[in-house]
Amino acid sequence: MTSIGRRVVLFIAAGIAGAGCHGDGVATDYRRPSSLERGAVACVDPVAADVGGGVLRRGGNAVDAAVATALALAVTWPAAGNLGGGGFLLLHRASGEDVFLDFRETAPAGATETMYLDDAGRIDDHRASDGALAVGVPGSVRGLDEARRRYGTMPWRELVAPACALARDGFIVRRSLARSLANARDRLAAFPDSAAVYLHADGTPPREGDTLRLPSLASTLDTLARDGADAFYRGPLASAIVLATRRAGGCLSETDLDAYAPNWRVPVRGTYRGFHVVGAPLPSSGGTVLLETLNLLEGFDLRTWGRDDARTVHTMVEAMRLAYRDRARWLGDPDRGAAPPFDLTSKRHAEELRRGIRLDRATPSLDIAEGFDVVFEPEESHETTHLTVCDASGNVVSLTTTLNDSFGSAFVAGDTGVLLNNEMSDFDLKPGFTSTRGPIGTPPNRIAPGKRMLSSMAPTLVFGTDGREVVLALGSPGGRTIPNTVIEVIVNVVDFEMTPREAVDHGRFHHQWLPDRIVLEPHYLDEATREQLRGRGHVLRDGDGPQGDVHALARVGGRLVGVADSRIDGATAAP
Ligand code: GLY
Repeated sequence: MTSIGRRVVLFIAAGIAGAGCHGDGVATDYRRPSSLERGAVACVDPVAADVGGGVLRRGGNAVDAAVATALALAVTWPAAGNLGGGGFLLLHRASGEDVFLDFRETAPAGATETMYLDDAGRIDDHRASDGALAVGVPGSVRGLDEARRRYGTMPWRELVAPACALARDGFIVRRSLARSLANARDRLAAFPDSAAVYLHADGTPPREGDTLRLPSLASTLDTLARDGADAFYRGPLASAIVLATRRAGGCLSETDLDAYAPNWRVPVRGTYRGFHVVGAPLPSSGGTVLLETLNLLEGFDLRTWGRDDARTVHTMVEAMRLAYRDRARWLGDPDRGAAPPFDLTSKRHAEELRRGIRLDRATPSLDIAEGFDVVFEPEESHETTHLTVCDASGNVVSLTTTLNDSFGSAFVAGDTGVLLNNEMSDFDLKPGFTSTRGPIGTPPNRIAPGKRMLSSMAPTLVFGTDGREVVLALGSPGGRTIPNTVIEVIVNVVDFEMTPREAVDHGRFHHQWLPDRIVLEPHYLDEATREQLRGRGHVLRDGDGPQGDVHALARVGGRLVGVADSRIDGATAAP
């Protein structure tokens, strides 16, 4: 046991006993000055990570590096990196302050509650997912610029320049990108401008080792570098994006783009076994689900049972079930009235809910569905991406950004090279209708003009027991699985003393209240444990593949180091 694993023992001891931190001869004191850190970047793509590392090397701070990395990902990881999507940025400042920027997409002014219903009143999944009508008003460009303006140190054009060069000069297609392009081929082929950017003339996707050049995106990035982020929202570029979407049946308008504004929000806060946890507030459900679940778990001695024991998995599933039930019932855009009647992240709420958890049997999700007319959560596809950055001064950024589905709507706007999101499908698509086979229809997350759709993204920071120094910065893609992925990594570190590498690589599972089943990563848990879970009444299903990919920073040897998830060929970089 090394690094954070050992120090976690100390954190827990300090948290429980209220004592100071005592070295054990191997562990590093987490209160060592942050100035020992050189900075680090962790994200899904090595070229983008190097862009962030280069910014740190040139004297930029963590915000500068995060912005440049996110812009580079819009080129090198088009499945999720984006100009045409949105995201959330959580920043711990060296001064001790934690701030949160919401640059989530909004519904266009022309959106209506029933815009994705067909003539028979059924949800038209295709219209909600593919093409121009699925597009929410993008927030990424103004969001990244807003973060830089307030907390960065470098000029915008210098942060855009590396992305511009990558798009113009090209980059080598890696295995993960080749795979994602192959998976998205049919969707991209449906739109001529998308096919022109991301497919060869014969309709085949670029393969591993090919050089991918994106001249139209380079030209757009060049405009943004020269004219500033507002050029995305008003003027010729904005007009071209709107014209392309309207021609293709979308309802985005120039007024929508011009009116888009990111929001600074207060992050949610809590503790888990003495560790301080800071997470995403609404309109993301991420932080709320995370804290509610962790609060519930505090009442159980998971450590004694063991990480992969059926009792541990069962208890974690029961906690997830309750937190996701609350998510479905109460959460949405806080600026449009979504407000739980009490604090879902309070220890008291967890105490009350915990009384209903039985160790010997699963609670059927329908048994905790009071207040719902019907019940179901739609299956979500899982493309989003997370990056973390720290600098030598002690600033730490945890940033999750998304187009929603892989390659978003698959719709590139005309000759701008900008791939647009399909975030509208994160709304509840049919008012009042909920069934075990259909989507949720509760009021807080119904479509309305200008409203932000509920997210699950969970950029998160975990501090030591004195609440001062970041010991873990993390997040993940994965749609509704995101909070559970983050929870499991935190539990691995705090309860089971895993090293950061072990914690990130360990097998994962997901339960989201409805559908009422545990989705396990393939090969996770042996058959005997699975049988014990079935014996308690759980339904088990193997997932189609990995659950998320966590790109984290973890305090090891007195400084934060990057940990990229081995589920995907992610990367870390240092200045
Ligand atoms: N579109 C994924 C999320 O925001 O949770």
